Amino acid sequence: MNTLNTAPMTNQKSALILDGKKVATDLKTCLKSRVAKIKEETGLEPCLAVCLIGDNAASQVYVASKEKSATEIGIKSVTHRLPADIKQSELHDLIKKLNEDKSINGILVQLPLPKGLEAEPLLLQIDPMKDVDGLHPFNLGMIMAGHPNLIPCTPFGIMRILQHYKFDPKGLKTTVIGRSRLVGRPIAELLISRDATVTVVHSKTPHHELVELVKSSDLVIAAIGQPEFVKAEWLKPGAIAIDVGINRLESGKLVGDIEFEPALQIVKAITPVPGGIGPLTVAHLLINTVKAFELQTQGYSSIEL
Ligand code: GUN
Repeated sequence: MNTLNTAPMTNQKSALILDGKKVATDLKTCLKSRVAKIKEETGLEPCLAVCLIGDNAASQVYVASKEKSATEIGIKSVTHRLPADIKQSELHDLIKKLNEDKSINGILVQLPLPKGLEAEPLLLQIDPMKDVDGLHPFNLGMIMAGHPNLIPCTPFGIMRILQHYKFDPKGLKTTVIGRSRLVGRPIAELLISRDATVTVVHSKTPHHELVELVKSSDLVIAAIGQPEFVKAEWLKPGAIAIDVGINRLESGKLVGDIEFEPALQIVKAITPVPGGIGPLTVAHLLINTVKAFELQTQGYSSIEL
């Protein structure tokens, strides 16, 4: 018998890397034909209006990427680029106009807003049927009620990648790190609706409790925006790790909220940064725009969670 096993047992990278970029590309290809069919059948063009206020560098990059992706799949995109010193009332006038304009199907106010402007009243004013960010209390409430209408794009993308790779959340002990309205809260609700057992931890959770929870979790969703905050050694062997963070280090390198390389030897599956949840967020903005178009023109949409 050969007792000398020369295979390197300790340094094997075994985790499945969840390819969000590929899933997003396939979704956009499907959506492109759906938009072409809509145009052919109705003569109408789904249209997304983006409000970009001030000159936040990251926001400019995000909005440019949203515009490019929309155009690629045949969705019209109209961006309102407005100065940082615009009055709150002028923004309300713009939202009113966009709400009333039948040719606009989706409205997105890029966040954060410059100092002196308040996001909350603007988000409240957006017609919930045009709220492609899914941030209106109506849409968040519909998730809680178990009947999602327009779902925030990142949580929608997370549910999609789990579904694509056939990871059923049912019964999974899950820790969501971060309690934001954009990601943490809605993803917790969506996972509860799919029978996961969910704990949400955040900046005020005692660190040792957070670590203990991660250590015993089958599914970890990291959405806190701190580079490599989740140490690989905290992760449970065989867990699924979803990394929502996009953090740029001083070196220029992009990293997520989870230590990626060492985690590859521990977890069953992990999303990379870049190329994981990011592209799915943009794809789901486009999906939401088409869904909003269908809700407005036919009163229902066949696009579901
Ligand atoms: N800023 C960063 N991410 C987002 C997003 O998903 N939507 C909006 N409106 N602003 C953002």
